[in-house]
Amino acid sequence: MYKRADFERAAEVVLSHTASRPTIGLVLGSGLGALVDALADRVVIPYERIPGWPVSTVEGHHGNLVIGEFAGQIVAAQQGRAHFYEGYTMAEVTFPIRVMKAMGIHSVLLTNAAGGVNRRYNVGDLMLLEDHINLPGMTGANPLMGPNDEALGLRFLGMAQTYDRRLRQRALNVARDHDIPLHSGVYVGLSGPFFETPAEIRMIRALGGDAVGMSTVNEVLVARHAGMRVMACSGITNCAIDAVDTELETDHEEVLQAGAVIVPRLTTILKGLLSNFPI
Ligand code: HPA
Repeated sequence: MYKRADFERAAEVVLSHTASRPTIGLVLGSGLGALVDALADRVVIPYERIPGWPVSTVEGHHGNLVIGEFAGQIVAAQQGRAHFYEGYTMAEVTFPIRVMKAMGIHSVLLTNAAGGVNRRYNVGDLMLLEDHINLPGMTGANPLMGPNDEALGLRFLGMAQTYDRRLRQRALNVARDHDIPLHSGVYVGLSGPFFETPAEIRMIRALGGDAVGMSTVNEVLVARHAGMRVMACSGITNCAIDAVDTELETDHEEVLQAGAVIVPRLTTILKGLLSNFPI
């Protein structure tokens, strides 16, 4: 279990690397780390240098916290994240969000690679999370289990206004202006590391899910617990397979390759969003 002092100590170490004071956090998912190339005056802090920070073991996740200027804002970008399926605890997976809060960050924009469940979604499309279904979380695998430190957030957290409406509206406007296919949908968070069976995909669709992935919701829970504004966006890297006995199979290579189309689109949207901050 981490304590508040652990988040504060890590925040102090991060801020000792730079005179900049970031107010916006970015979390860059699988294959999306190249987005940091859009940051100016970059300071790169490897995760290993930050006490308590989990290091991703997954290909396509770089493992740096990059602080820099982007569209007139100072941002701290996580280039890669740790996942529950890597064996990290929920507290470890969400530690970086607590540290960002301790650094003075008030808004987090999370990204991920996701499988498209909605039949209208194509590879390379983006989907803003307007809501989520947290299947592992409902049965107790979530980062808010255990004693609650009231100084960090509320014991019982309302989830009806999780994904900031104004940020989403602005992102949709930017996408429309640039002809970027950006959907609004429901993200279903699973633990992974396996991709879903066709029966699971049909179940997720029947439950109202539009996209499926292995990250994000735990970080969102902690960010909301910490009182931060949240926006999250999936890059659809593959169309989830909903029938058996086809020649199709999902693999990680496919997920990483789609990042090449998704990164420029995501960069445009985030740039348009941040250039108008605060919204
Ligand atoms: N399922 C779960 N996670 C994913 C997928 C998927 O199809 N694609 C990228 N991340």
